[in-house]
Amino acid sequence: MKPIEIAKGVYDVGVNDWNIEDFHGYSTPLGTSYNAFLIVDEKIALIDTVKKEFADQLIANIERVIDPRKIDYMISNHTEMDHSGSLARVMHRIGEDKPIYCSKLGAKNLALHLPQRYNYHAVQEGEKLSLGKRTLTFMETRMVHWPDSMFTYLIEEQMLFSSDGFGQHYAGFEKFDDVIGHVIMPHAKKYFANILLLYAPLILKLIDKVTQMGLAIKTICPDHGVIWRKDPGKIIAAYDQWSRQTPKRKAVLVYDTMWHSTERMAEAIAAGLSAEGIQVRPMYLRKWHRSDVMTEVLDAKAVIVGSPTLNNGLFPTVSDFLTYMKGLKPVGKIGAAFGSHGWSGEAPKLISQELESLQFEMVAPIRRQFVPDGKSLEESYEFGRAIGQRIAAQVPA
Ligand code: FEO
Repeated sequence: MKPIEIAKGVYDVGVNDWNIEDFHGYSTPLGTSYNAFLIVDEKIALIDTVKKEFADQLIANIERVIDPRKIDYMISNHTEMDHSGSLARVMHRIGEDKPIYCSKLGAKNLALHLPQRYNYHAVQEGEKLSLGKRTLTFMETRMVHWPDSMFTYLIEEQMLFSSDGFGQHYAGFEKFDDVIGHVIMPHAKKYFANILLLYAPLILKLIDKVTQMGLAIKTICPDHGVIWRKDPGKIIAAYDQWSRQTPKRKAVLVYDTMWHSTERMAEAIAAGLSAEGIQVRPMYLRKWHRSDVMTEVLDAKAVIVGSPTLNNGLFPTVSDFLTYMKGLKPVGKIGAAFGSHGWSGEAPKLISQELESLQFEMVAPIRRQFVPDGKSLEESYEFGRAIGQRIAAQVPA
């Protein structure tokens, strides 16, 4: 089967990874794809490679279009191994003297990944590379998603090769936004919340820079998931909104429980929030993956975390989630903690300390010894109502 031709002489030669379930700590129930793009003009360029174990598939896809030895330029937008893992195999096939175009940091990082010394060409911002009838240019995009990241732009086609930017972990035969439809947006949101949220201020600057440059973008080709050809403005607008972390009247209520007592408190708190018109769902950490909870955090105003006290500390799944969320640095949230305990009862205080470190606006925690009775469940309900009122006061309906 010949690779999909996105525009005349521009092919997606990437692969689907149908079976991956965990992408460095991020759950991928629908797999992912590692996209790579072949541009056939008077000169031929390959943009990015794929994970190491898919090298044969990538090379076979290229062979369905051209003899790989005819490739003149290898372009590496980003060093992470889902895009560079098969670079050595590809270089061996296309010719190890061929230039690898990458950012300055890309040259450094690729050299730290690959033992072989290649002919790295560190591009300047805005540098042009003529392929004959068409021309590529390059834009530094540090931290989207690594310090070495860059975008490549095919000027005449108004086509942006955006590496991790605008991607989604989704494996499928539907390779375009207009084919898959709106159902791709939750995957794009999850990708943003779990991969790019930490760099939200830089993304806003990048969108601003692209807007000021007046760069026309007809098609966005990310390295994961579908290609945005019908409405690239839609995903750019979504990135703008997600980067601003504009909250909804929504709370994330996440917890674990040992003997259902913290769970009972979670349900009562959720009921209190709901009574104030706040969107909420209790998220049990042995049912919900940390990356799915994080997706909900993105547009929530409050993050409420519950844990039983285990051996004077937090329950391990709660520690895991807090560590994960802290790394992604969401901003502008209300934070609250709760939990049931047997004797020492440190967990709510420990949670509060973690949320405070994110500069969340904190609510005093509540805790209950052993099994919550009707009175303490009423207290939990009122706790939820009070947080709900605080959200409603800050977020327009
Ligand atoms: Fe898809 Fe940052 O690698």
